[in-house]
Amino acid sequence: MTLTLQEYCSLARYHTFGIPAKARWLATIEAATQLDELKAHPVLSTQPWLVIGGGSNLLPTQDYPGVVVRMVMEGKTLVRENDDHVWIEAAAGENWHAFVQWTLANGWYGLENLSLIPGTVGAAPIQNIGAYGVELKDCFESLTAWSKDDGHLFTLDREACAFGYRDSVFKHALKDNAVIVSVCFRLSKTPDVKTGYGEIERELANTGIRQPTPAQVAQAVIHIRQRKLPDPAVIGNAGSFFKNPVVAQAQADLLSEQFPALVRYPAGEGRVKLAAGWLIDQCGWKGKNMGNAGVYDKQALVLVNRGGATGAEVKALAEAIMASVRQKFGVQLEPEPIIL
Ligand code: EPU
Repeated sequence: MTLTLQEYCSLARYHTFGIPAKARWLATIEAATQLDELKAHPVLSTQPWLVIGGGSNLLPTQDYPGVVVRMVMEGKTLVRENDDHVWIEAAAGENWHAFVQWTLANGWYGLENLSLIPGTVGAAPIQNIGAYGVELKDCFESLTAWSKDDGHLFTLDREACAFGYRDSVFKHALKDNAVIVSVCFRLSKTPDVKTGYGEIERELANTGIRQPTPAQVAQAVIHIRQRKLPDPAVIGNAGSFFKNPVVAQAQADLLSEQFPALVRYPAGEGRVKLAAGWLIDQCGWKGKNMGNAGVYDKQALVLVNRGGATGAEVKALAEAIMASVRQKFGVQLEPEPIIL
């Protein structure tokens, strides 16, 4: 299969913020061997590469001068099974939500709380996607990646991926060096639903469901997300724009004294995770606009394109929010998406 290459290509269809930007080159990867072709290319091998999946965690503020490598490889395989579990390998370009629904339809459980997260299977491990009390790492077995250094495929297990909150080795030691080509999940044949996250409990209680099936948990998650988060097909956005900040317990305690309603979660020995959405909301940003960029009315953690926004406008809004939160709470927020 020959590599598909385009020059000066609009990225409008390949990211979810709805902001105009072009790639100097766009390579569409349908098979791992095409990465070898790209590496052997006399010009493109020496350029910077930006690997993307669904482009749902990206804020373009300028044209990309190098090669945007778009992973679209598809395929799902049952690699092995025993009485309790199945191991499913999925190619990097598989749409995440469609993959999750497919596993549920087959009676393979564990990913239901991660329904409706935008993006692809190959992007999911990079930030260890998580929602409603479950993270990708909980069902993760291993992945196969391609090394830009030497063109070899290699496998990483869960430990080697060093998963953390919205974090993995792909944001550190392997940044810009490894391209994920497939991910293997270990899923359960027996339902073990996780409904402890307050909003899921409330959603299920409202619908009168007492012993939910995984499909019903998935439906509850889908309803919550549809209610609280903007559909990128309608309003440009990249999901949560900031990570929830993790601070020292002593700092959180001082803040709780000053702001008794502070939303906080234990985050390991002596550490506390704060709700960035709450901090931003308290600074009065919810529903506000700066130029054509805005803070979503139903969830202050999500920045949106109100129509015709530039990347610079969204970035300026993000910086203004960070300054407010720093000033009011002494907490430094960290943007989650890749800002180009
Ligand atoms: N809150 C406010 N005002 C707001 C937003 C939130 O007061 O405008 C409060 C809520 O009332 C709640 C707390 O902040 O007490 C947390 O809010 P929520 O449950 O909506 O979750 P989150 O911490 O804002 C995280 C993830 C989401 C994920 C949800 C559910 C991050 C950066 N975000 O949001 O992930 O769906 O939990 O598990 O960790 C994403 O990464 O793109 C994403 C949507």
